[in-house]
Amino acid sequence: MRIFMDTANIDDIRRGAALGVVDGVTTNPTLVAKEGVQYRDRIMEICEVVDGPISAECISMEYEPLVEEARRVASWHPNVVVKIPMSEVGLRAIKTVSAEGIRVNTTLVFSANQALLAAKAGAAFVSPFIGRLNDAGHDGMEVIREIVSVFDTFNLPTQVLSASIRNPRDVTEAALAGSHVATLPPAVLFAMVNHPLTDKGIEIFLNDAKKYSPV
Ligand code: G3P
Repeated sequence: MRIFMDTANIDDIRRGAALGVVDGVTTNPTLVAKEGVQYRDRIMEICEVVDGPISAECISMEYEPLVEEARRVASWHPNVVVKIPMSEVGLRAIKTVSAEGIRVNTTLVFSANQALLAAKAGAAFVSPFIGRLNDAGHDGMEVIREIVSVFDTFNLPTQVLSASIRNPRDVTEAALAGSHVATLPPAVLFAMVNHPLTDKGIEIFLNDAKKYSPV
């Protein structure tokens, strides 16, 4: 499973990238607004740090402006993947720009049916929001399993990108469900590195190592 970081914080992205296990980055208007920077500037900075798909979201709500925005955003950098929210207008725009070779990440996906439509329109990725589904009383991971199963059944090339991940267990479950990608808030990525038994084990080994001369 590929691991993306779900943030627009450049310091966290640098720290994550240094681990050597980050394959891409996803952003959204909320994440960029938190940073107090211009969207394009931050996407360009991220592209310098991580060599992989970098999702940047479109905000136009009408077909023509959305297609124009998607083309403009995609032109920023070859690694930019255009995020388009699921809707009738969104689907039409996904179909148009995907046919032009622009990679689209369909965002705000909450059902297998929405994912199927996005895949049929040619989206490179669909982003089901696990945490927000769970918050609303649904089973987010079941939606991931359904989408993976539908895509497998029909050999659809669209990748499932598990989003709105809230804790390390979500990552394990997304991987077990066969999600192609999981996008992680920095805190979740860094928490995955640790285990209390690892810390305890290192302490014991370091103490025991004092009993012999260093090699
Ligand atoms: O980037 C989209 C998604 O991952 C947002 O997550 O925690 O705001 O539901 P969250």
